[in-house]
Amino acid sequence: MDKKWVIGNWKMHGSLASNALRIEALLAGYAVYAAQLERVSMVVLPPLVYLGQMQEKLKAQKDQENIQLGAQLVAAAEQGAYTGQCSAAMLREFSVSIVLVGHSECRQYLGFDASALGLQLRQVLLQGMRPVLCIGEGAAERRSGRTQEILWAQLDVLKALGQEFAATLWERLIVAYEPVWAIGTGDSATPEYIQQIHEWIQQQLGVVGKPPEVRVPVLYGGSVSAANVRAIMALAAVSGVLVGGASLQADGFLELSRCVAETQ
Ligand code: 13P
Repeated sequence: MDKKWVIGNWKMHGSLASNALRIEALLAGYAVYAAQLERVSMVVLPPLVYLGQMQEKLKAQKDQENIQLGAQLVAAAEQGAYTGQCSAAMLREFSVSIVLVGHSECRQYLGFDASALGLQLRQVLLQGMRPVLCIGEGAAERRSGRTQEILWAQLDVLKALGQEFAATLWERLIVAYEPVWAIGTGDSATPEYIQQIHEWIQQQLGVVGKPPEVRVPVLYGGSVSAANVRAIMALAAVSGVLVGGASLQADGFLELSRCVAETQ
């Protein structure tokens, strides 16, 4: 079984100087709390242009599995005339092991639709990395009782992939449930709501093709903090957290990760 996941999504924050400070503080803190933190899978997702910097810094770790490197997005195509984009093979060269696909901010600002997301998932799998498919309903959709309908439509992309990547998709897939109304608002979903939706997602994964013996990790994201993470991780249906704002301060992220380790 997977360890519990703590993934820090740095979004479009930072600079060479502040990243260096943050990652050095994370590595130093990791060394102090290694016995605890080895029980979780910690991942950082810097902006793409800083992957090389982070790869160099993370090489200092004795165990490269301690803090892993991930990416916030990937191109749908393998290579070619796609100005501004970055392929899965390029990410792999920087030791990226985890890639977000379909974060709500990418769906909103970059206009990724279901067919683009399907191709992105495909590229991540072809390069041997683990995709984190992000799904979540908006505030108006929730208010009008359409949450399940929206999530179902967002999971649909897995049907075709399950046929092409029968051997690997379900072993490697991670799903992150991030209700859009909870992202960056300080208004996390309640534990009852999270448990209910996560159980439902786990069932629907079976409907789109997941074999019953495989358990796909379903993470929660949306205003996760050191203050609320214990209650969230206490839920049986939650396999980890995807953290935005609270991943930007090394001390806070270490504390949050230790809380997750304690719930293992
Ligand atoms: P916040 O933790 O800042 O709400 O962001 C969540 C998120 O979008 C992580 O991908």
